[in-house]
Amino acid sequence: MMKMNILCNEKSTVRDALDKINENAKGVVFIVDDNQELKGVVTDGDVRRGLLRGVTVDASVGEIVSRECVYARSSDEPEKVFKRFSEKVKVIPIVNDNMQVIDYSEYNSQVKLAIAQPQLNGKELDYLLDAFLSTWISSTGKYVTQFEKEFSDYCGTKYGVATSNGTTALHLALVVLGIGEGDEVIIPDITFAATINSVLYTGATPVIVDIEADSWCIDPDEIEKAITEKTKAIIPVHIYGQPCDMGRIMEIAKRHNLYVVEDCAEAHGAMYAGKKVGSFGDIGCFSFFGNKVITTGEGGMCITDNQELDQKMRIYRDHGMSRERKYYHEVVGFNYRMTNLQAAIGVAQLENIEKTLEWREELENSYRDKLNAVAEINLQRNDLPNRKKITWLVTAYVSDEEKRDACMKAMVDANIDARPFFVPLSEMEIYKNYVFSNKVSKDISGRGFNLPTSYVVGKEQIDKVIAAIKTVIA
Ligand SMILES: Cc1ncc(COP(=O)(O)O)c(C=O)c1O
Repeated sequence: MMKMNILCNEKSTVRDALDKINENAKGVVFIVDDNQELKGVVTDGDVRRGLLRGVTVDASVGEIVSRECVYARSSDEPEKVFKRFSEKVKVIPIVNDNMQVIDYSEYNSQVKLAIAQPQLNGKELDYLLDAFLSTWISSTGKYVTQFEKEFSDYCGTKYGVATSNGTTALHLALVVLGIGEGDEVIIPDITFAATINSVLYTGATPVIVDIEADSWCIDPDEIEKAITEKTKAIIPVHIYGQPCDMGRIMEIAKRHNLYVVEDCAEAHGAMYAGKKVGSFGDIGCFSFFGNKVITTGEGGMCITDNQELDQKMRIYRDHGMSRERKYYHEVVGFNYRMTNLQAAIGVAQLENIEKTLEWREELENSYRDKLNAVAEINLQRNDLPNRKKITWLVTAYVSDEEKRDACMKAMVDANIDARPFFVPLSEMEIYKNYVFSNKVSKDISGRGFNLPTSYVVGKEQIDKVIAAIKTVIA
């Protein structure tokens, strides 16, 4: 309920306005007519400047009102309202179609600018409610099937098998390809731990290789060098939205008769040579965790063109149970199912994926434009031939680790969330026995950090991030 002490009738005096500003402690009143129609705002600064100009406290508030003021409409999306806040404007009137003030929105400076934030303002709640009311809240239900079909269509593959998360998607993929003890699986040094863990769950041996200096993705030359007679598969990871060199990787895989499982957790919609990632290898694996391009809260999916693998994954995902004979288990499977509730959110998220990718790219370009002038900082490459990168987390890098840490500290001090680049797997005690090569990855990782990449990041927020970074580097 809106407190009336933030509204001040246009017929009031300067003193009335000042009293209300004192009372509401927001430094501002909205000036309205008898109909509550917005006519302007008066801030404590307007009062101060008015008094200095010789306006008396008994004069009409009209003498000091700012008629051009920032406001938002009740139909505006939250991020649009958020982006109107600035250094000067911290309280914004919300008006209806008749310009009547019906509410206000206030900027909370205590709220940290998050590194990522799920955008749930499409039909998520409608579909979620529909799934809930249908009572199909476990893993059977129309949304699971719909999400599998629509997401695999989006990626350009025939089949999609929804899973409980991205890690189970990777594990499921490796299991149905028959990867296990005695096999070697080549993975990049820079990735999230789920990639290597999924290999270890199967009993196979991960072989960690270095990354390319320009793309930060697995280096095909290093893959070639690491192949032995035990090598069974490669897991290229499309890191921070950057597609791997799928042309060369598929050629190597074919020549050496290796499986390819793409880890696309961070790269929904990214393309190599005009084709979506996830559609090159035997199986493509996605994550729909809350910080991903589209989310289902927790969730994942395996996509493939191979019908036999699709069928196998469905059996393994569902406790290994026969699809023909209930409670007859053909293999030792898992419960890796996605719920209908999660899938309902996924269907709504997918409806907006193009718009989501668009604002993400625009945001990265805005950071890029502003950081162009700062010689000591660079952003992840987006100009590599054949590769259409998407923006997952905007990733910057500087000359050394000390500077990187100082930049991140300056951001945190300014109430901005900052994240370091992934720590190379080779640096961790538990994985160090699996390292084949790690020269470039070691160098890059200490220098990189992520910038806030969410839909509430507008011009003001970008300026704030850059101002924080500039306290460290020129
Ligand atoms: C590259 C990569 N692979 C796998 C995963 C695992 O996905 P999930 O968290 O959904 O299990 C993630 C992210 O979380 C990731 O970034």
